Amino acid sequence: MTPIDPAGTVAVVGAGTMGQGIAQVALAAGHAVRLYDAAPGRAEEAARAIAARLGRLVDKGRLDAAGRDEALARLQPAARLAELADSALVIEAIVEQLDTKQKLFAELEPVVPDDCLLATNTSSLSVTAVAGGLRLPGRFVGLHFFNPAPLLPLVEVVRGFATDPEAADRARATVAAWGKTPVACADTPGFIVNRLARPFYAEAFRVHEEGGADPATIDAVLRECGGFRMGPFELTDLIGQDVNNAVTRSVYEAFFHDPRFTPSLAQQRLVEAGLLGRKSGRGWFPYEEGADRPEPATAAPCEPPAEIGWHARPPRVCAPLREMIEEAGIKVVRDRAPYESEWYITLPDGAALTLTGGEAATPGNGGPHIYFDLALDYRTCTRIALAPSETASARDVQAAVGLFQVLGKSVSVIGDVPGLIVARTVAMLVDFAEDAAGRGVASREDIDTAMRLGVNYPRGPLEWGREIGLTHVRSMLWGLAQEYPGGRYDPSLSLRRRAAVEESLL
Ligand SMILES: NC(=O)c1ccc[n+]([C@@H]2O[C@H](COP(=O)([O-])OP(=O)(O)OC[C@H]3O[C@@H](n4cnc5c(N)ncnc54)[C@H](O)[C@@H]3O)[C@@H](O)[C@H]2O)c1
Repeated sequence: MTPIDPAGTVAVVGAGTMGQGIAQVALAAGHAVRLYDAAPGRAEEAARAIAARLGRLVDKGRLDAAGRDEALARLQPAARLAELADSALVIEAIVEQLDTKQKLFAELEPVVPDDCLLATNTSSLSVTAVAGGLRLPGRFVGLHFFNPAPLLPLVEVVRGFATDPEAADRARATVAAWGKTPVACADTPGFIVNRLARPFYAEAFRVHEEGGADPATIDAVLRECGGFRMGPFELTDLIGQDVNNAVTRSVYEAFFHDPRFTPSLAQQRLVEAGLLGRKSGRGWFPYEEGADRPEPATAAPCEPPAEIGWHARPPRVCAPLREMIEEAGIKVVRDRAPYESEWYITLPDGAALTLTGGEAATPGNGGPHIYFDLALDYRTCTRIALAPSETASARDVQAAVGLFQVLGKSVSVIGDVPGLIVARTVAMLVDFAEDAAGRGVASREDIDTAMRLGVNYPRGPLEWGREIGLTHVRSMLWGLAQEYPGGRYDPSLSLRRRAAVEESLL
């Protein structure tokens, strides 16, 4: 598909944070750019801000002075919408209000040529609704850039209900020609990234609300065991609790209160208290001058067991553990009990240590249990969380802690929450992604690309599901659903279908 003419004019309406970033991207791609804002003087102000940013790129040696001057010569603030008449593409980045955006496009449509692509940068409104009143809604798309637009590569290209496939393809080709990574998606609440990322926040907040662990520990486990760049508590403090909560609430409303998208009461209270994160000096964590950042709960050194029992075959993800344990000098005794199908390790006093299956360790089936969390990679992770059942003794817990410590891990012993921290989060991320793929929200490839680039996940959720095994993800969700009835953890139809196919191939 061909992009818009590189010599064509791109208009950006709304010269705030996003409008300035998008204008800079279009300038870097060689377009003439018109910048319009309803607030008098704002477009000129934005042009000066863009000039200053390009100046900083020159200072850093990333752009030469001639390149900056040539780009700035192509940037023109516009005082009236009528000045956008020769645009090949208009990208709107004004205030996030449906009626304001609809009104703008109603005024804009008669001004621009019929073959001009029209785009909204909305992050939470329905693209279909924004285009609702247009004479030619077929040329209307969502182009969802991420902040800061000049730096972040991902752009979600959203097809509204009435968008012509040709217009969506042209928009996709255009942002690709601009050096961005476009992903195509249907007009669904939250598009790909904001829809599929909800469990990353929701599960962590829920573990905290249930007293399973404190924010610093949950963040550390998701980073050091799950491989996420940042934990949900520190990340939402950076984004702003009000902003993150508003996205969650808008997706929840748009899905007609589907329990899978339920917002967090604890986060809602933070917002009500004005504890918005870094920008207000306090959120989940304090940021005032001299404030100490809380440390994650980490177990003191414990003696590792000299010998452990090994029952049945571990799930694929846990396969490296046996070799790691033997390399650490611990004797592994294989138990051939024929009736055992579930994999577990027996500790010296008889407690069973195993990967969480989604359910809580208490009451457990037969004797003391200690569950450990899912890791992105058991060899390279530096922390692990353990959840002992009420029936596990202090000696059982010490043996489990010592075992993981001798493998080089910091250990966080947390409360007996179903699915611990990483496992429940990843099981839900995989399910949300499988559900979206099954419903045709986006291609499987674009879903994984969006989550890796849009929120920096260490692995695309669909790829992650394949690595864990979808039958295993399904069992974890069944375990969680048994502990929390109400539908939130019911595995989606798409995940169950694919798990059944996987099972039939075993
Ligand atoms: N900030 C982000 O991280 C981010 C990320 C992706 C998408 N978005 C979306 O981008 C859009 C803009 O967000 P922002 O953060 O840049 O907002 P902003 O407040 O920084 O800028 C909005 C600008 O639009 C102008 N404006 C308001 N009504 C207008 C109208 N009728 N006509 C012309 N100009 C008008 C305002 O004067 C202001 O300069 C929103 O739809 C938002 O949801 C924001």
